[in-house]
Amino acid sequence: MRDFEPTSPFPPEPYRIRSVERIHLLPKPQRVEALERAGYNLFKVPARDVFIDLLTDSGTGSMSDRQWAALQCADESYAGSESFERFKAAVIDVMGFLEVIPTHQGRAAERVLFETLLKPGDVVLSNALFDTTRANVERVGGVGLDLPQKAALDPADESPLKGGIDLAALKRTLVTKGAAVRCVVLTCTANSLGGHPVSVANVEETSRLCRAHQVPLFIDAARFAENAGMLARRDPDCEGLAPSAIARRIFDAADGCLMSAKKNGLAHIGGLLAVRDQGLAERLRQNLVVTEGFETYGGLAGRDLDAIAVGLREALEPDVLEGRLAQVAALHGALVAADVPVVRPAGGHAVYIDAGALLPHLPADQFPGHAVACGLYLGGGIRSCEVGSLMFPERPPGGLELTRLAVPWRTYTGSHLGYVAATAGELAARRRELTGFKIVSAPSALRHFRAALSPSA
Ligand code: F0G
Repeated sequence: MRDFEPTSPFPPEPYRIRSVERIHLLPKPQRVEALERAGYNLFKVPARDVFIDLLTDSGTGSMSDRQWAALQCADESYAGSESFERFKAAVIDVMGFLEVIPTHQGRAAERVLFETLLKPGDVVLSNALFDTTRANVERVGGVGLDLPQKAALDPADESPLKGGIDLAALKRTLVTKGAAVRCVVLTCTANSLGGHPVSVANVEETSRLCRAHQVPLFIDAARFAENAGMLARRDPDCEGLAPSAIARRIFDAADGCLMSAKKNGLAHIGGLLAVRDQGLAERLRQNLVVTEGFETYGGLAGRDLDAIAVGLREALEPDVLEGRLAQVAALHGALVAADVPVVRPAGGHAVYIDAGALLPHLPADQFPGHAVACGLYLGGGIRSCEVGSLMFPERPPGGLELTRLAVPWRTYTGSHLGYVAATAGELAARRRELTGFKIVSAPSALRHFRAALSPSA
């Protein structure tokens, strides 16, 4: 007799829950009020007024019992703590870079790296810089240039490995921009394009081109584990390899990495820089001690370093990672089944609604992605995030207008995500009722975090 294998639209999560946090669905009239009070900016809605929070997967996941146990055993010494030794050992084990520098989160790593590396006019090439990465390049007078693959700009294109850099464009730009190109950053996975993976071949060819031009290559490793997990399923070069071995192939091709440990460190705070070049590491540490803290804690408590040390390895454990990717893929499938247009194929950490396709009656300057995000909050108390013209005002018109449903690690169950898909399905059925938004006030950098908006009709 064959084993009984029940099927369900949402696969069973590979964990059980031992500590719970209550959440509430605010009645509809109060959701309307909360959104109005927040200037129609979901970043300004108090978390207690949110039912299912898919704003981000950054620092919002659940730590494992092993991580909490490690936290209790932390060493809070100012200098040379054992927690730092464990953190450093985990980074070296997972990534292979010997010079390890903790920071308080990803954007601190970005600031320290670009302040150290760039002078005004220098160019940083990328598949897709995340918004904070771009902001930190521009803050010191640098220029960030995204060279995404064409397939990534078409939400309906099913190419499985479309998160990489356009290699022909990279080759050209390394020549045309010449010595102005100071480094290349490959964001794995490509968060601002749909969370697609970057293939081993793409990283290795980028590495070859970079070496030929003596330009260092850095990996933005925020979601390196999800990248490796998707490659295990999709990249013929990775057949039969464990996620940890795939991750090492990516890191082995690079000169260093910067990372927000709030994602694949499975921790609530933290970040890091890790490089091979000792001279560069010394300059980074000099910057660090002035602003972030001493080089063995970099703005973190010992307990944070320990949580990350365990989390980095845990994120690569095949069953943990498989559960993570399966949950996100199931949400993707449920949205497709509910007739909601989504970016294809499923990414590793989030599902992106193709708001441009869902709301063709709204032009980019009325922020269709934001209209969907507000609609999901009003419809079901669900918080999501626009990734489109509001977040990236410098993108040329006609680009991606998305609403990102980021799934925190190990936090929501299949029934929560089923509810999200049902709410999105209802919203899609009433798409013609959705109106656009206009900006009332906004700061010049990273405007989506702090802008005030109002309905445009
Ligand atoms: N790089 C990537 C690819 C990111 O997604 C983020 C943050 C950062 C760098 C910056 O890290 O937040 O620790 O300072 N992304 C969050 C998100 C905010 O919601 O995707 P941080």
